[in-house]
Amino acid sequence: MAKYKIAWLPGDGIGIEVLEAAKIVLDKLKLDAEYIHGDIGWEFWCKEGDAFPQRTIDLLKNVNAAMFGAITSKPIKEAEAELIPGLRGKGLIYRSPIVRMRQQFDLYNCLRPCKGYPGNPLNYKENIDLVVFRENTEDLYCGVEFSPVPPELAETLLRISKPFIAFKDFGRDQYAISCKINTRKGSERIVRAAFDFAKKFNRKKVTIVHKANVVRATDGLFLETAKEVAMNYPGIEVDDANIDAMTMWLLKNPFNYDVLVAPNLYGDIISDLCAQMVGGLGFGCSGNIGEKLAVFEPTHGSAPKYAGQYKVNPIATILAAKMMLDWLGEKEMGTKLENATAAVIKEGKIRTYDMGGNSKTLDMAKAIADKL
Ligand code: IPM
Ligand code: MG
Repeated sequence: MAKYKIAWLPGDGIGIEVLEAAKIVLDKLKLDAEYIHGDIGWEFWCKEGDAFPQRTIDLLKNVNAAMFGAITSKPIKEAEAELIPGLRGKGLIYRSPIVRMRQQFDLYNCLRPCKGYPGNPLNYKENIDLVVFRENTEDLYCGVEFSPVPPELAETLLRISKPFIAFKDFGRDQYAISCKINTRKGSERIVRAAFDFAKKFNRKKVTIVHKANVVRATDGLFLETAKEVAMNYPGIEVDDANIDAMTMWLLKNPFNYDVLVAPNLYGDIISDLCAQMVGGLGFGCSGNIGEKLAVFEPTHGSAPKYAGQYKVNPIATILAAKMMLDWLGEKEMGTKLENATAAVIKEGKIRTYDMGGNSKTLDMAKAIADKL
């Protein structure tokens, strides 16, 4: 029996292609694993009314880790229209499978390292090395949303809200509500993960990202909890910043920052910003990490317009595979894979279109595999 069981979830579009690329390097490393395909994605929404079917959920209960490609999602009306006729009009609601997976398996730590590899023509500046810890289960992603607003909620809001709130004059279908729910436990564990990482890897500073000056209740709780956690790590410098200012300062001087920790939505935003500074979509890798399971993925989406062309850069996914190796405890393989990737970037002979070249997805994977 293989040492590891790994769920293999390509999803849609280029998700399939980049996972094929990751398989090339994992095979070359001879990771002792059984890879088990899981159905997930747009195809299953259209056919079954569920993009993340129960059989895939069951599969994830029985593996050590998973690699996930990407999934296409569309606005509600378009999504409904693509269902097979028998399922249409049944009130099925499309919710992003990756968001569901993060919540269902309590993958609370979204870890997004953003490291610029020397020689990458897409680096914003040389030697950027930022690590984003994004809370991955709550906040505005909690899925508690109302449109139209139910009467009991509308009445309660009118009763307790302040008179200047504009919606008091509106009908229930003229406004919508998305709840932002942050918990002390959720905030505490992600901040702890960030500080533990900083301590283990000798990082100098952790910056808490929020908007507590306006979103007082939820972000206030996040900031307060984060500051409490920080007190347990006296050797590590801590500061905090509002999300808006943070985006400016990060661009102005990324070297002032090191480890960043944020609630879900702000983490989503700054991790794209940080990924862009180290080469963009082709380089942003991501781990969704819980206590029992971890799912690794490129930060990018399914890029339908490139699907089938095998032209996108697989490095984000290959670096996600490196994160998986580290998480499984296969550090030596992880380091080897990172070094091989860095060497191919530095050499600059094989470059995908985003890097100004015309190498194909699998050429990049093979070039990296050749260095292993
Ligand atoms: C990400 C993506 C997802 C998110 C989308 C695809 C639901 O943007 O992983 O950053 O918002 O979390
Ligand atoms: Mg995102």
